Amino acid sequence: MKKFAVLGCGVVGSGVVELFEKNKALIEKRCGQTLEMGYILDLRDFPDRPYANLLVKSIDPILADPDVAVVAECMGGIEPAFTFVKSCLEAGKSVATSNKELVAAKGDILLQTAKEHDCNFFFEASVGGAIPIIRPLHKCLAANDFSAIAGILNGTTNFILNKMIKENMDFETALALAQEKGYAEKDPTADVDGHDACRKICILSSLAFGKHVYPESVHTQGIRNVALKDVELCNQLGYSIKLIARVQRLENGKILPTVMPMAVEEDNLLSQVNGVYNAVMVRGDGISKAMFYGRGAGKLPTASAVLGDMIEEVQLDHTIPSQTWVNVGNTDFIEDFSAFSAKRYFRTTTADVHTLTEIFGELENRTVSTEDDETVFIVSASMNAADVDRAVKALAAKNIQVLAQYPVLVS
Ligand code: HSE
Repeated sequence: MKKFAVLGCGVVGSGVVELFEKNKALIEKRCGQTLEMGYILDLRDFPDRPYANLLVKSIDPILADPDVAVVAECMGGIEPAFTFVKSCLEAGKSVATSNKELVAAKGDILLQTAKEHDCNFFFEASVGGAIPIIRPLHKCLAANDFSAIAGILNGTTNFILNKMIKENMDFETALALAQEKGYAEKDPTADVDGHDACRKICILSSLAFGKHVYPESVHTQGIRNVALKDVELCNQLGYSIKLIARVQRLENGKILPTVMPMAVEEDNLLSQVNGVYNAVMVRGDGISKAMFYGRGAGKLPTASAVLGDMIEEVQLDHTIPSQTWVNVGNTDFIEDFSAFSAKRYFRTTTADVHTLTEIFGELENRTVSTEDDETVFIVSASMNAADVDRAVKALAAKNIQVLAQYPVLVS
């Protein structure tokens, strides 16, 4: 018999409790032994819940109980989660977390602590909710040299963009609905401004390339300034604007992680990912590409990933060597954002396509001129930030403004 504890009984923590209670028999069968819920740590009281007798307000009884083999950390935030998780690992108790902020900021330290104490720091639930992506990256795909990962990693923003396009819902109403459904972070600016997706691409980049990528190293831009007009016009050109978290390995061997709204080509499966669903596209030399898809947020989908990690821990008696990365003490392996280069979508205040062609070179033949004498188009060649600057200045000299521009994600 082994026991587990749950830290934090909010949306995800209560989901772990609920899904465990519902599927206890089959979970135990898959564990190969009995598993008991021993403790739930929360500062709040839940007198009416059936598990009220398991509630504790201190980590100490959990640390002191030798039968607790694994701890589900679902508190969110850095502190006190970091202190609690580190103490659990130092006591030889494995941890399964859904807390991407913690993994992105402290994953290197916690993985090292787990290794030193013969246990595991699991974080499948920290990226993509229900989608298995952490374990596939370091196990099923472990034979690959990875070249890129691109994904829709934030359910809230994808849900909001979708509601805006399909139901003409305004931004605030769509955000309130996402919060009501338990998708959004405590502070929804983390979703809307791209920080949540940034933490997730940090985790995937660190695991795929073996070096800790911190959020400060990632160019991050959210969806706050995405205009409905561009979403609609971009659709007419055959592209969908999505918040894309991405890391590419460049020819110089450095990696370039980014989070920003991109115009996704309709041939790219990511353009078809709607609502709260997430998807991750992985490129590697053995597989070419593989796509992972599922519910990226919500109570039971995230709890499913936490419990999956806990079940693996109950079956194990060692630290998994492939599930790790290190802090190399510098960011020399990360390329500066100025090197980012892509085809681009533009909306400009002119109907004069000839002038646009003179400045940008070849345009894709799906160019559309609007009733407001604006033109939306896709530039065929890749442009970096300096190329965009030059084009904007050349247009300004002719009294033409760029009203919006998005990089394109090709298939
Ligand atoms: N706020 C996150 C999202 C929850 O919307 O994707 C899952 O990490």
